[in-house]
Amino acid sequence: MANYNVCTLPGDGIGPEIIAEGIKVLDAVGAKYGATFSYDERLIGGAAIDATGNPLPEETLEAARTADAVLLAAVGGPKWDTTDSSKPRPEQGLLAIRKGLGLYTNLRPVRTFAALSDASSLKPEVIDGVDLMIVRELTGGLYFGKRERFFDEDGAGADGAKGQRAYDTLEYREYEIERIARQAFEMAKVRNGRVHSIDKANVLDTSRLWREVVHRVAAEYPEVELIDMLVDNTAMQLIAYPRQFDVVVTENMFGDILSDEASMLTGSLGMLASASLGDGTALYEPSHGSAPDIAGRGIANPLAQILSVEMMLRYSFDMADAADDIARAVAEVLDEGWRTGDIKQADTDPNQVVGTERMGDLVV
Ligand code: NAI
Ligand code: MG
Repeated sequence: MANYNVCTLPGDGIGPEIIAEGIKVLDAVGAKYGATFSYDERLIGGAAIDATGNPLPEETLEAARTADAVLLAAVGGPKWDTTDSSKPRPEQGLLAIRKGLGLYTNLRPVRTFAALSDASSLKPEVIDGVDLMIVRELTGGLYFGKRERFFDEDGAGADGAKGQRAYDTLEYREYEIERIARQAFEMAKVRNGRVHSIDKANVLDTSRLWREVVHRVAAEYPEVELIDMLVDNTAMQLIAYPRQFDVVVTENMFGDILSDEASMLTGSLGMLASASLGDGTALYEPSHGSAPDIAGRGIANPLAQILSVEMMLRYSFDMADAADDIARAVAEVLDEGWRTGDIKQADTDPNQVVGTERMGDLVV
């Protein structure tokens, strides 16, 4: 019988409440498919700062490195908000673990659940049947380039006064583009066979290199259709005709912006999962934060966490049938009318508005 070691990182706010439901569902599919999971719970974020002064203690990173997968809930909260830049912040733990595990691919699936089609600000006929996957490069580009802020002559305005000046650099290496492109084509092969590669090749050199390398990788995947699209046009197409997209691959900052835009096609933060893959152990987490405003009340929506367990089964454990079971269970629970507070609708039966634990039980 397969046994997997999962490093669990509850973090802060609603984190401990929702991760418990993810574990419950993982154990349930494990029992059905003959796999067992052992859990190694560690500290990250604000909880880790309180206990050790460090948002990512070395033993947490080590446990994550040696685990078969990492399940993270969320970090952060007003308790640790500070303007004093010498003080550690919970979010530094998140960036450090992504970097420490070499997680250069961020996957964000966006699919609409029929039962929630009026949760979006877009018309149902535009978003019905949307099922796309954003593949965002996560460790390169503008967020990791050389940067500086300084005071000099060139900062001068029209009045000749000196002023502040700052720059960030957008840089990509061929191998960084190649490996993320390969992830996207592999993904398209098992999905619907189409990749949109997003760039700004009419202006940026990094984008021209991006396009060249993506086309070279595409030649290895004749069964996958490749479409180049400029990022500004993509921003428009995503809300106008979202069904045209299957896999969308792009660099770090474009992906940051487009994935937030795309996530709102479904209209509900509590439903969106993500996976970060790379050289080391893969990490799975909901897209939302620690929701401190509702923490400790047992009312948080655990479905994004549960759907990140679905991704874990698919990408780390090669248990696609078990993953499909979870996706189906979530859709059925919603079809039957069950809702947590964040996704309840005007016509929801008040007796079917449930808390975190009950929602997890229903999925099980
Ligand atoms: P948030 O995602 O935590 O909350 C935004 C709104 O959505 C809140 O009203 C919250 O109650 C609601 N919400 C979020 N998840 C929910 C769920 N599962 N069920 C029901 N309602 C849910 O974002 P916010 O408020 O901007 O940030 C709160 C804290 O979380 C901050 O400290 C922030 O830095 C951190 N954060 C952490 C992330 C992570 O761990 N990956 C990502 C985003 C924010
Ligand atoms: Mg973002």
